[in-house]
Amino acid sequence: MATNVSTMIDSDRIAQRVRELGAEITRDYVGRNLVLVCVLKGSFVFTSDLVRHIDLPMRVEFLGVRSYGEDTKSSGVVQITHDLTKPVEGDDVLVVEDIVDTGLTIAHLLDLLRTRKPASVKVCSLLHKPARTRIQVPIDYLGFTIEDKFVVGYGLDWAERYRNLPYIGLVESSS
Ligand code: XMP
Ligand code: MG
Repeated sequence: MATNVSTMIDSDRIAQRVRELGAEITRDYVGRNLVLVCVLKGSFVFTSDLVRHIDLPMRVEFLGVRSYGEDTKSSGVVQITHDLTKPVEGDDVLVVEDIVDTGLTIAHLLDLLRTRKPASVKVCSLLHKPARTRIQVPIDYLGFTIEDKFVVGYGLDWAERYRNLPYIGLVESSS
């Protein structure tokens, strides 16, 4: 079986939106203790582009998570594979996600991060699939709303492949 990927959001549109989000975050976090929490693995590309458009003193932390269950379905029960390296107590945490699908994963992460007593916790997600919402979690900074299709690229994977694509694409299988 061969697979190929069609473009859903090209790299120019992504770059433009990431610039806008960076400018918005810069305006909103002036004078605060911004800590960006990059949720691994999916948001590593988005985070690395986004930080270069945030013109503020800030920190970056990484939270490694692995979803239990099937590859393309979320159980919302996540295993922490890499924890933050420094406390975020009193800091303004901005969680950077690749995609909010059912909302279960981000809800779980927000519960976890709130136990660390940050001054604030907000969410920045590149993508959102509202059709699949099971828990409503406010997304404070959103790149794109997409339809209910499985997407890859720009950090997102299908069985660990395609994270390196510079665009968001749809996997099409053909036999
Ligand atoms: P939930 O449903 O908990 O899912 O909001 C969030 C996590 O599920 C993965 N996910 C995807 N990964 N293409 C992917 O590569 C997709 O279309 C997709 N939808 C959900 C992803 O790991 C995300 O953090
Ligand atoms: Mg994934």
